[in-house]
Amino acid sequence: HKDVLGIKDLSAEEITLILDTAESFLEVSMRDIKKVPTLRGKTVINFFVEASTRTRTSFEIAGKRLSADTINISGSTSSLVKGETLADTARNLEAMNPDVIVIRHSCAGAPHMLARLVRQSIINAGDGAHEHPTQALLDMMTIRNRKGTLAGLNVTIVGDIAHSRVARSNIYGLNKMGAHLTVAGPATMIPRDIRKLGVKVSFHLEEALQNADVVMMLRIQTEREQLNIFPSLREYSAFYCLNRENLKKAKEDVLVMHPGPVNRGVEISPEIADGTHSVILEQVTNGVAVRMALLYLLTGAVE
Ligand code: CP
Repeated sequence: HKDVLGIKDLSAEEITLILDTAESFLEVSMRDIKKVPTLRGKTVINFFVEASTRTRTSFEIAGKRLSADTINISGSTSSLVKGETLADTARNLEAMNPDVIVIRHSCAGAPHMLARLVRQSIINAGDGAHEHPTQALLDMMTIRNRKGTLAGLNVTIVGDIAHSRVARSNIYGLNKMGAHLTVAGPATMIPRDIRKLGVKVSFHLEEALQNADVVMMLRIQTEREQLNIFPSLREYSAFYCLNRENLKKAKEDVLVMHPGPVNRGVEISPEIADGTHSVILEQVTNGVAVRMALLYLLTGAVE
């Protein structure tokens, strides 16, 4: 592949290769001296037209740990604010001859447009409500590390499935890797045709948690809702907030995950977010290793 635009485009074998490569970089990433010369002379542009803490920082750290030159551009300080189009911006970035452009954009399909326009590798760091492939890869890495496998696990994804690029990428990926998926949330947040993607649907949190090996909680995407949110955040948390009581329905060794940012007390109670089942910060650590793996694999560092 020239680009990483979505998990939909990857085979189970390719996902396994990325996760295996990320494992070797996790070891590098956890050393005292973390820098290796692997991508010396390569240039990575992180172009974030939508807010980010984890994804942007971890792409920058990933590039730096591999000795690539990393440059960050945000939408609000670029000439997009003067009316330059995304296509013209991309052509100008291309003219400076980077090797990889990482893009986050609120419009679904923006990374795909860039991939067609420029010769550099494009990595999708989240496009609207469409896909967030690197998040799904780091989630799969975290589950595989803890459980030893992805095949056969019961994974429950709870929340605003309709607006969640994290849910979509994880559904594609975990399905390919043989996990059993259930999505749960209010009917207004579950797309009607979601079953076509090979998931079970439940509108009741406790039912969806039954026998779960992994539970992935999602943030309500207030920035993507056209109208007032229904149900309201208060109503939502009354029925769908993960807490000590309802988590008892899941398996004893259940993993609790969240891509962040967390709305404490809305989709997850603080005691569960910070509790013994939570691997939320482990997900963040693994995010650096996954992004190192992708930069390495895409820049042709592999002979
Ligand atoms: N999980 C995630 O994408 O977080 P950021 O929006 O902070 O990058």
